[in-house]
Amino acid sequence: MRTLRNLSLRSKFTIGMVVIFFVAIAASWLVLSRLVERRAEEDVARQGSILIEAMNAVRRYTTAHINPLLADELVTQPEFISETVPAYSAREVFENLRQNELYSDFFYKEASNNPTNPRNTADPFETQILQTFYTDPDTQEISGFRNLDGERVFYSARPLRLSSETCLQCHSDPAVAPASLINTYGPEAGFGWQMNDIIAAQMIYVPAEEVLSNAQSTLNLVMAGVTIVFLAVVLVVNFLLHRAVVSPIMTIAGLANKISSDSLNEGDLDSPEFQRVSRRSDELGNMATVFRQMAHSVVQRETQLKQEVVRLQVEIDQVKRAQQVNEITSSEYFKSLKEQAAELRAQRKNPGNLTLGTSEA
Ligand code: HEC
Repeated sequence: MRTLRNLSLRSKFTIGMVVIFFVAIAASWLVLSRLVERRAEEDVARQGSILIEAMNAVRRYTTAHINPLLADELVTQPEFISETVPAYSAREVFENLRQNELYSDFFYKEASNNPTNPRNTADPFETQILQTFYTDPDTQEISGFRNLDGERVFYSARPLRLSSETCLQCHSDPAVAPASLINTYGPEAGFGWQMNDIIAAQMIYVPAEEVLSNAQSTLNLVMAGVTIVFLAVVLVVNFLLHRAVVSPIMTIAGLANKISSDSLNEGDLDSPEFQRVSRRSDELGNMATVFRQMAHSVVQRETQLKQEVVRLQVEIDQVKRAQQVNEITSSEYFKSLKEQAAELRAQRKNPGNLTLGTSEA
């Protein structure tokens, strides 16, 4: 703490800014990371949603147009015509889509606990989803992530209801189903369904790893950019702080130092550095102007004081001399000298009187 206090203004600012920045970067990275992830998830979910809608359109088209067209043949022909089955069309169309390399990792499945075709059997994970649909018939969609063949994928599941009478001809009772269907799929599975039953979970699997990691690397790139910009800002602020604040303060402090050691010349206040500061119209410019006035009056007072001291010195000298003269003149010895001198003078006027040194007698 003490070492921190001893740091220069510039270092304090730099350390302060760097600390604030790293906290801000870390916090925003956390928040943005979550946000970007959510956006990516929404994006993936939208793709899944569109694909399910498309598959439902294929199903409806098959039910409305293909099945009626071939309904008679289903009864009369020994060979089952799979093209009349909505689930089959949907699956085939999707397989077609998967041939496009962009969608090769996507997967569509109508998962059922009682499937006509065993490949549509729900796995444990899908069974759980079906269970949720059964217990809560209002659930429109369940989505999230799961591991599929060792890969993290996004899934979106929707309940598939038996909503058309057409479906019953093949899925209600083996007895009413076309013979060709029984021949192909057998009479055990895919029957006993009733109107409005939830009979399967429409599952769409979208590869999410790539989307999410793409989003993350975009975020990382942006953050790296922000870091570089910030470091540049720190350098610029550091430089500006030195130019605009530290250096002028040092100039003024230098002059103040000179005042305290009594070595300030009037010329120092005209130095280019000080001029530059005092020309400024900000707080430091103000301070420099005030400092200049102060320095002027300090120097002036100092000069006056020195003159006064000299004058006083002279006065003291004079007083001292007068005192010394006084001391001398008032001494006994001086008095006697004076008297002797007076006598001598008198004798010179009257040479008859030769008594010397008897004036006291
Ligand atoms: C012409 C007979 C037929 C009709 C009509 C029909 N299905 Fe199917 N359905 C099948 C056959 C056959 C399969 C197995 C397809 C396959 O090989 O994947 C199947 C498969 C399914 C599946 C996938 C699970 C499973 O059982 O393998 C669902 C779900 C399904 N049908 C629902 C419906 C619904 C809903 C309707 C009405 C809109 C309908 N089917 C109409 C014959 C039919």
